[in-house]
Amino acid sequence: SDHPLILGIETSCDETGVGLVRGHELLGDQVASSVEQHVRFGGVVPEVASRAHLEAMVPTVQRALDSAGVKAADVDAVAVTAGPGLAGALLVGVSAAKAYAMALGKPLYGVNHLVGHVAVDQLEHGPLPKPAIALLVSGGHTSLLQVNDVATDVVSLGDTVDDAAGEAYDKVARLLELPYPGGPHIDKAAQRGGSSALRFPRGKWGDGTYDFSFSGLKTAVARHVEDADRSGSPLVVADIAAAFQDSVVDVLTRKAVDACVENGVSTLVISGGVAANSALRALAEQRCAEAGVELRIPRPRLCTDNGAMIAALGAEVVAAGLPPSSLDLATDTSLPV
Ligand code: KG4
Ligand code: ZN
Repeated sequence: SDHPLILGIETSCDETGVGLVRGHELLGDQVASSVEQHVRFGGVVPEVASRAHLEAMVPTVQRALDSAGVKAADVDAVAVTAGPGLAGALLVGVSAAKAYAMALGKPLYGVNHLVGHVAVDQLEHGPLPKPAIALLVSGGHTSLLQVNDVATDVVSLGDTVDDAAGEAYDKVARLLELPYPGGPHIDKAAQRGGSSALRFPRGKWGDGTYDFSFSGLKTAVARHVEDADRSGSPLVVADIAAAFQDSVVDVLTRKAVDACVENGVSTLVISGGVAANSALRALAEQRCAEAGVELRIPRPRLCTDNGAMIAALGAEVVAAGLPPSSLDLATDTSLPV
């Protein structure tokens, strides 16, 4: 193919991701996760993540090249997450990307992690209609974006004002004494619950913004658990999980579909770790169908943090003819889209 071969490097959180992409074709995708090292802390410990990235980087690049059947010398450009993310973790990836770019004599492109989550969908579903709306939901982000052009024109419509959606899942799982990361456990427990009359508040429901809030919901769950403890009534974990999840997916899908309808956009992309949630998928499918909106959700492996998403965005940036980053590219923990 005549498309350039892009090496993508991702280290914004606890996944060391390396991807190889040509155009919209995924050639290699290797991820080394340090998640087990964070389990006993109940959340990602930045310093632990940084050290794990440092150890995993070179072997993961090698595995990606081997699995794609290409050599480092075949790489035409290096793309790397410049932000947003954890400071130390980002630094490891950007330093490695600079070293590869310099050693190979190829251009370096610093790209935005959030936009990478959107670009990756093209590896699975082909070119993204312009414009599209994207809902990004993970342990670190809850963002609604209007994507006019994935390489050059992405506008933030809304964000969480407190906890990220996945963070809320993880914190509520802890209250319910479910293991970390809690999202999949709550998802599973909720499938056995929901028969009770329990209903938790919907944060920022109908407030006329595309912003989200989950800390009030978390507090409501905590109060419910405390009350049950105090009165000695049994905790029905499945019902609490279902009621919590109902609140989260109701607000996420309502605001995402509203963003499509109100902006005249007919494609919604949902990505990030929480996009694996069964209730979110089901309700998004239902509400998108009702509103005449096409729903695109990449397979779970591409929804969570990975290097292919950064390579996919790098490919778009190169194709758009944007200038490379300089070798003194800085990281930015709160890089805007
Ligand atoms: O994208 P991701 O792997 O990493 C980042 O946070 O960037 O997302 C991880 C988050 C965790 O908070 C995890 O609890 C949540 O995604 N998650 C889920 C499910 N699977 C993972 N949340 C709800 N339902 C799930 N099935
Ligand atoms: Zn992410």
